[in-house]
Amino acid sequence: MIFKALRSNIDVEDSLFNDLYPSHIKDLADRHWTPVAVAKLAAEYLVQDGKKKVLDIGAGVGKFCLVGASCTDGMFYGIEQRESLIKLSTDIAEKYDIQNVEFMHGNISEVNFADYDAFYFYNSFYENIDTSCPIDDLIPTDTKLFKVYTRYLKNELNQLPIGTRLATYWGTWDEVPRSFELDGSACNGMLNFWKKTV
Ligand SMILES: C[S@@+](CC[C@H](N)C(=O)[O-])C[C@H]1O[C@@H](n2cnc3c(N)ncnc32)[C@H](O)[C@@H]1O
Repeated sequence: MIFKALRSNIDVEDSLFNDLYPSHIKDLADRHWTPVAVAKLAAEYLVQDGKKKVLDIGAGVGKFCLVGASCTDGMFYGIEQRESLIKLSTDIAEKYDIQNVEFMHGNISEVNFADYDAFYFYNSFYENIDTSCPIDDLIPTDTKLFKVYTRYLKNELNQLPIGTRLATYWGTWDEVPRSFELDGSACNGMLNFWKKTV
């Protein structure tokens, strides 16, 4: 019913979507998982121009990818360092037969950015700075990692072709290279749309 509604352009409440997950994951939603309406807006921006392969950089429990795959005809990929979260998102994709989505267990530093057309980033590295609401204690956090991953991401984005689209939610914009120009904003400036211009 949730995914059928999304495919029919019917709004879905976050509380309903988050019911797909176990309670300890649901409890993390306000801090860590993209709201449905935000995911829909971001996905619609990213699949424009016939650019169809969208990567979620730090996919969590797959909320952005699952919503995007249901609302658009893009192909959504999520890379996520926590294996237990990949299991949850993959199980949902299989259970609801969402075929235009794929979740991969790994670190962002192992990804070839050239394989994708567009990118979504929800402040994934911030858990290394703000440890007040941890997802779990299985991945060690370190303030140094925030800088290392941010620098890595910025460098990878900078090498992508002109016209590449990026959507960022929250965040410091430290990861956005100067070669990307702001192309629009939504959600009181929390969701930002970027396009590579040089
Ligand atoms: C704020 S959550 C966003 C989840 C998802 N993108 C969404 O919007 O619903 C950030 C996720 O990024 C993951 N993450 C952080 N650093 C990562 C890295 N270096 N490689 C892969 N995943 C990472 C975290 O484990 C967490 O699940």
